[in-house]
Amino acid sequence: MARQLPIGVLISGNGTNLQAIIDAIEARALDAKIEVVLSNKADAYGLARAQKHNLYTAVLDHKSFSSREAYDQAVVDILRRCKVELVVLAGFMRLLSPLFIKAYSNRIMNIHPALLPAFPGLRVQKKALDHGVRFSGCTVHFVNDECDEGPIIMQAVVPVFPDDSESVLAARILKQEHKIYPRAIQLYAERKVHIVGRRVMVDDLSKDEKQVLIQPQI
Ligand code: GAR
Repeated sequence: MARQLPIGVLISGNGTNLQAIIDAIEARALDAKIEVVLSNKADAYGLARAQKHNLYTAVLDHKSFSSREAYDQAVVDILRRCKVELVVLAGFMRLLSPLFIKAYSNRIMNIHPALLPAFPGLRVQKKALDHGVRFSGCTVHFVNDECDEGPIIMQAVVPVFPDDSESVLAARILKQEHKIYPRAIQLYAERKVHIVGRRVMVDDLSKDEKQVLIQPQI
């Protein structure tokens, strides 16, 4: 059996990406072991998902810490105690301090519901709709000091229709998030992703020049 990468998954909410990761591990499509699921919110539904699969969970409420650094140090302490090698942000709605990023330098992944570098930040599906883009999607990237700026590992593209609501578009994107996040983590587990400057090189990349999307269709 392949070595299982020890990961820690950080959540704040529903945890559907966490679920996709759990499912991929159980389907043996992802050689990882979730050592801890940590939430900054006690009522995050993702905690119930984790418990259903007998995963170790931790709740650290940021409101009970005096500073961002103190909070992040406590999170890092738990991740280290659990021997986590890769930190997976899955809807963890907090910015990480330099202390955290340094502790897990190049070993933190995030998923973002837009095609970065377009639409960083929050409510990005609304931003995509308001801007009138024809495509949006999701991005898995490494986390660095700048918000939603780190080297891009994988992206998926979905069409945006003028009559989409924010929630319809979010659901269309989320479906693709569940596909690419476990894939990106697996590439990391296989040591096939390499950070080179601001880019990520992927081993054994298959290329298809015909993979073109046009919208509106012609
Ligand atoms: C996902 O859409 C994820 O991309 C987004 O939060 C949602 C979490 O859903 N993350 C961010 O916006 C990070 N800035 P989930 O809890 O069901 O996985």
